[in-house]
Amino acid sequence: MRSAADPCSYVVLKNVSKTFLDGDQKVHAVRDACLVASPGELIVLLGPSGSGKTTLLTLIAGLLSPTSGSLSLFGQSLTSYSNGDLQSMRAKRIGFIFQNFLLIDSIPVVENVAMVLRFSGRGRSDALARARELLDQFGIGYLARKLPSALSQGEKQRVAVARAIANNPELIIADEPTASLETNQGFDIIRLLHDYARQERRCVIVATHDLRIADLADRVLRVVDGRVRVQCPQDQAKEVYPGRPVA
Ligand SMILES: Nc1ncnc2c1ncn2[C@@H]1O[C@H](COP(=O)(O)OP(=O)(O)O)[C@@H](O)[C@H]1O
Ligand SMILES: [Mg+2]
Repeated sequence: MRSAADPCSYVVLKNVSKTFLDGDQKVHAVRDACLVASPGELIVLLGPSGSGKTTLLTLIAGLLSPTSGSLSLFGQSLTSYSNGDLQSMRAKRIGFIFQNFLLIDSIPVVENVAMVLRFSGRGRSDALARARELLDQFGIGYLARKLPSALSQGEKQRVAVARAIANNPELIIADEPTASLETNQGFDIIRLLHDYARQERRCVIVATHDLRIADLADRVLRVVDGRVRVQCPQDQAKEVYPGRPVA
């Protein structure tokens, strides 16, 4: 395991907790989570609905601040990023795949993909050219001018992956990316992401409640009631998933 100080780790969470207030009730969405994620691996966070997966991904992306604990991204503590730096880092270095893909229905596919390139500072024609190239690479160049609402779930899935990797981000965060797909399509998306992690030496973190997806992961970390069984030293020898020891 890489230590928390290793600059090669993209994501390091140390005893991170997040508590929400629901009226006067405290909801402990994430409790004491530790996680080290490094280039070249696809990690699956496996847990039932309500276990804290989305909150954890949102914390990792720096979109939420933890109630306690520390979090660093790309070797730098999140608290040391200014708001502007955080936004720019997110736009350039993190790719997102959301549940149901969240493509923007009012603009064509090619512009959906180009948009993330524009956010990271590319000019319009350059962004559109790169977006077309990516769609061709994924075998869906013919969809470029269609609106997302005209696409099948499988086509939307490919567009979502193309959009997530457009900036060649070091980290991809995918929240339930297979939830709306048939099993084979679900496997396809995870395989595409796994290839990306391996070939480009990038890191992919996928949250899912789908046990079958776990088979394609390099590591499976189980999330239960906001607790994550991960590679804190004390967890090294524990089993986090039936039959699958912690890496
Ligand atoms: N903004 C919020 N305010 C209050 N409670 C929240 C908020 N976001 C999530 N929760 C609660 O935190 C827990 C974990 O939610 P979530 O991270 O969405 O789980 P999952 O993605 O595994 O379904 C749930 O009990 C949920 O209701
Ligand atoms: Mg969720």
